[in-house]
Amino acid sequence: MNAAQNEFAAYLDGLLQAGLYIGGILEELVNLHRAGEFDRRVLVSSAFLFLDAGHDNVGNHIANGVLALIRHPEQMRALQDNPALVKDAAAEMLRYDGPVDCLRPRYAFEAVELGSQVIRRGDKVYASVLAANRDPEKFENPNVFDITRDKEQHLAFGKGDHFCLGSQLARIEAEVAITTLLARRPTLSLAVGLDEIEWNESLLLHGMKAFPVRVGK
Ligand code: HEM
Repeated sequence: MNAAQNEFAAYLDGLLQAGLYIGGILEELVNLHRAGEFDRRVLVSSAFLFLDAGHDNVGNHIANGVLALIRHPEQMRALQDNPALVKDAAAEMLRYDGPVDCLRPRYAFEAVELGSQVIRRGDKVYASVLAANRDPEKFENPNVFDITRDKEQHLAFGKGDHFCLGSQLARIEAEVAITTLLARRPTLSLAVGLDEIEWNESLLLHGMKAFPVRVGK
């Protein structure tokens, strides 16, 4: 862990020891720890993972998704006319401009040839789900934002053993946030030019540094 991560882990440890959490999953984890299921290090790193994995991703998913709606007014209108489309719309937002770029790094067990590249045994590999979600072999017109695509086939929540543990919660959070936002602020628009938006420079997270919007016409 780097210095900031160590500092945050120590801060969380202090909160957990002082009992400064409200019910829910943290309480469950503390109870399991007290029952001897795992040590303090696992308790703190699990709390860290939930906060870290659960916070930025959902925020960036909602922001990137609302940006996609603003950039595609006909899709925004379709969703406003038929709010029942929100589930499909949120799935398409995850495919089109999801909040995770690369998965956590993996290490190759054996040499693999992929496209024109050779990945050697032991190489560290970052797989971009953002790129996979625009794969023309998988998605028709991958660069088109279409909230009526009929199946959720994106990889925004990963795949396999490490598939996102919070995907159901994230889906509910995004659906509630987007529905509420569009109902309360139906004339949302960008307050700056598209090319003025700055994106965070991160291999893992894909989100804007700021998202300036106007709420009236
Ligand atoms: C839109 C929101 C979210 C997205 C796009 C997302 C995406 C992902 C992805 C791609 C992975 C797999 C990482 C990998 O294989 O390297 C992952 C893992 C994980 N996510 Fe999420 N996530 C979201 C929200 C959440 C929330 C709300 C929580 C919990 C409150 C959460 C908890 C976790 C945990 C604990 C893992 C690790 C699972 C494991 O390693 O077995 N995520 N997430």
